[in-house]
Amino acid sequence: MPDRARDGHGFARSPDEGRRPQSGKAAGYPGVALPMSDIPVVTIDGPSGSGKGTVGRRIAAAHGWHFLDSGALYRILAHEALRQGVPLDDADALARLAGTLRIGFPSDSDAILVDGRDVSRDIRSEAAGEAASKVAALPEVREALLALQRGFRQPPGLVADGRDMGTVVFPDAPVKVFLDASAETRAERRCKQLEEKGIPADYDAILADIRQRDERDRNRPVAPLRPAPDARALDSTGQDPEATVAAVEALIRERLGDV
Ligand code: DC
Repeated sequence: MPDRARDGHGFARSPDEGRRPQSGKAAGYPGVALPMSDIPVVTIDGPSGSGKGTVGRRIAAAHGWHFLDSGALYRILAHEALRQGVPLDDADALARLAGTLRIGFPSDSDAILVDGRDVSRDIRSEAAGEAASKVAALPEVREALLALQRGFRQPPGLVADGRDMGTVVFPDAPVKVFLDASAETRAERRCKQLEEKGIPADYDAILADIRQRDERDRNRPVAPLRPAPDARALDSTGQDPEATVAAVEALIRERLGDV
C-alpha cells in the first residue's frame, strides 16, 4: 500500500489517460462503478515550503491512497517549455505542449518521466520553479492541465497538493486543508532541501524569490492561491511535520470517520 503513495502518484499516466471520463471502479468490486464523489479526496493547498508535500505524502502513505503533486505538473510543463524554446507567455503554444507530454510516475521509483526521460531533479531547480509560476498564471495552461489532475482521483482515495486543489480542481473534496508558514521558515526549509541534494543555496535570494512567487500566486486572476471557504487553516511555522500530520488526521476523522 505505501508503495502506491510513495511513488507520488501510483501509476504511470499519460495526458490522454488523464482525460478519460470521471468514473471510478470500487476497489475489490470489479465492474461496480463508484461515483467520483465517493472516492475520498484530501486537498492540501498552500505556498511553496509550507510542508504540504511532506505532510501529504505521509497522509497518503498511511491510508494507502494515491498522491498528486500538482506543482510537479506545472514544473514539468515549464521545464519542457524552456527546453524546447516555447516562450513562457505563449499561452496557446504552452497549452498545446501540455497536451503532448507523455508523463509517467513509475510506481517503483521516485522518477518522474517525460517522454521516457527522468526529469525529477531538473524540475526542482529554481529556474523551473520560477518558470512554473509564470506558466501557472495562464488560464489556457490551467485548463489544459485540469482533466489530467482530476484523473488522479482513483479508488481507494487521493491526497492532492497544490494551490487550487480545494477551490478549483476538487471543489467537492470532503477534507480541505490550507497549510501556510512564514516566508522565512519556508526559505529555511528550501535551503535545507537544496543542501541535502547537494545543490548550493543562497538564503536571501531564495527568500526574495519566495516573496515574489507568493505575490504572483496569490494575486493572479485565475485560480489564485487562497483557502477554500470550507478549508481548515493550519500553520506549520515552528512545527515539525508530525504535528501537522496529526492535525490533518484529526480533520480526516472528523469529516470521514475511520478510513
Ligand atoms: O508547489 P510547487 O512549488 O512545486 O509549484 C510550482 C509552481 O506551480 C508554483 O509557482 C505555483 C504553481 N502551482 C499552481 O499554480 N497550481 C497548483 N495547483 C500547483 C502549483
